[in-house]
Amino acid sequence: MTLSRRTFITSTAAAALLAQVSARALAQAAQRTGLKDHFADDFRIGAAVGWKILAGDKDLESILFREFNSISPENCLKWESLHTADGGWRWDYADKYVDIGTQHQMYVVGHVLAWHSQTPDSVFKNPDGSYVSAATLKKKMQDHISTVVGRYKGHINAWDAANEAISDDKDNPMRRSHYFNILGEEFIDHAFHVAHEADPGVHLIYNDYGIEGGSKHEACMELIKRLQKRGVPINGIGIQAHINLEEPDVETLDKCIVDFASLGLRVHFTELDIDVLPNVWKLPVAEVSTRFEYKPERDPYIHGLPKDVEDRLADRWESLFKVFIKHHDKIERITTWGISDDGSWLNNFPIRGRTNYPLLFDRKHQPHEAYYKLMALKV
Ligand code: GLA
Repeated sequence: MTLSRRTFITSTAAAALLAQVSARALAQAAQRTGLKDHFADDFRIGAAVGWKILAGDKDLESILFREFNSISPENCLKWESLHTADGGWRWDYADKYVDIGTQHQMYVVGHVLAWHSQTPDSVFKNPDGSYVSAATLKKKMQDHISTVVGRYKGHINAWDAANEAISDDKDNPMRRSHYFNILGEEFIDHAFHVAHEADPGVHLIYNDYGIEGGSKHEACMELIKRLQKRGVPINGIGIQAHINLEEPDVETLDKCIVDFASLGLRVHFTELDIDVLPNVWKLPVAEVSTRFEYKPERDPYIHGLPKDVEDRLADRWESLFKVFIKHHDKIERITTWGISDDGSWLNNFPIRGRTNYPLLFDRKHQPHEAYYKLMALKV
């Protein structure tokens, strides 16, 4: 039988439609089990959990348990959250966090042991404002780290032992934090050693942002080599990946995974989110002093994301995951910093009160277009 041109067009269109419908149907079927099952052969899929989940938000919980098999704590394991002003400890939220992960057999991440931020100044300074001695700071770190890591031994799988020790200034590659000013780079070694002693089985990570490429990537590679040479028990690199629609490009990302893995480290993407709002960090110099000011033109999507931006965002997620899948043997997990857009820190950073769309679930807790693209990968 020869097909008339009309029959041919119709059957081609029908076949295309059928292919589309079945890709969508497959993606929707996969959604019943979630991202964690879809990528089970590649890496874990994680989410940072905040106060809402710890307070029992059922809606967010249902997304968490369906989609993710790893959790990271947004705040409850940071120094300032664990110590009370009168020198005591508070464990309620931290215990709840670890219980959630244990009960649901998740890969539980501890964040963070040594970080310059969200650690009270009193850790580093005497009442008169002078720095405590090196021995005092080491003792404080020893008490803090051995208590926290010891408490969750066997329940927390991996700890960010040190966070953001590298600076953004390429001429001074190590951040001039209080930790560094008092102990030099050795504060990192100390954090890793104490954590390792408290739980020899726990996986220890160095975590930072902006280390995908450029001078910060080089500085990070050099730091890791120095740590390894000094016998520091480091197992993984945490690439935070607070990124945007353009940067870093996928070639840079690809190379950084290969580079870090070549040092014998497992690669963790620890805080992934994609900022879609106008970038205020790169405004002309004259504007630098006002870069954190709210202006309506810096918050263009308060009524929703236009279709073309939603499409670009979906393409960006897809291209990232193509690189992750290519290097699945080197990657331990892909963790997003939050679950849904309404809870993202990027609504308030670096400008307060904007409407951002950085995660895979929107403000109504529905999947973004990107979610379906990821589910269609490997189908
Ligand atoms: C950094 C920290 C996280 C978190 C995010 C933003 O990346 O590592 O703990 O504070 O900033 O919220």
